[in-house]
Amino acid sequence: MSIVLTGATTGIGRATARLLAGSGDHLILHGLEPTISDFSPDDRITYFPADFGDLNEVERLAARIRAATDKIDVLINNAARPGPPVRTVNAAGLEVTFQTNYLAPVLLTTRLLDLTRRVVNVASATHLSATLGDAGRPYSAAGAYAYSKLALVAYSCWLARRRTEVVSMHPGIIATPLLHAMFAIGGDPPEHAAANIRYVASRQRDNGTYYDERKPARPNPEALDRGAQDRLIELTERDLDLELW
Ligand SMILES: NC(=O)c1ccc[n+]([C@@H]2O[C@H](COP(=O)([O-])OP(=O)(O)OC[C@H]3O[C@@H](n4cnc5c(N)ncnc54)[C@H](OP(=O)(O)O)[C@@H]3O)[C@@H](O)[C@H]2O)c1
Repeated sequence: MSIVLTGATTGIGRATARLLAGSGDHLILHGLEPTISDFSPDDRITYFPADFGDLNEVERLAARIRAATDKIDVLINNAARPGPPVRTVNAAGLEVTFQTNYLAPVLLTTRLLDLTRRVVNVASATHLSATLGDAGRPYSAAGAYAYSKLALVAYSCWLARRRTEVVSMHPGIIATPLLHAMFAIGGDPPEHAAANIRYVASRQRDNGTYYDERKPARPNPEALDRGAQDRLIELTERDLDLELW
């Protein structure tokens, strides 16, 4: 099997990479760091860095993955950032949390879709607190993060209308730099989320499901609203200057 996993350098992604390594599967890992360490020479690891804050880097990452494999059994979109303390917009006018956590994985998925059997989008239960109209609301770090994750869940439901085996999930409340950047709470170890991700990645023939850890759960109703999905996709296609289907 070939598995693509983004955000594999720290936290949940790192624990997931370590769990999957050694299975004999070809792991194509991504992170922000220039290199990745701590794997055995026997593990089949390919590593590509890319900053999701730059969509040109996401395009380059997709091209490098396509050159490395002609089949992806599971694409796990895990990389994400917390919202910064103050609203931050990049040179293209895009809010940086939305770009890194939503636009970048959507672009990567679109570029790899024809090779991919199953897509697992790592979202967050915080998406339940957002609405797709939140973009114009007063800024907060957690609000920007939750909005980006609602967009990712709604995109997953939209894509599931067009093809099979696209799911999204909440991996658990996990003690990582991302959690602690936004919330003063404790969490389970990253290995707990890694086991949940491996479980969801290994399911077959389910489609459009939102998992709360390992249990199918109801996502934010807006994610299931076809009109809301279509409006989101229209905005996404404009931001990415790309047809998603
Ligand atoms: N922790 C939780 O309680 C929790 C709860 C719900 C959902 N989640 C989701 O679980 C996933 C993993 O989160 P985590 O808690 O493990 O966070 P984390 O420890 O901060 O790891 C995030 C990963 O994403 C990468 N990343 C961050 N910014 C990036 C950028 N601009 N370009 C490319 N890669 C970037 C990081 O790279 P570096 O190592 O180089 O920074 C790292 O590999 C995320 O999708 C998160 O939203 C987490």
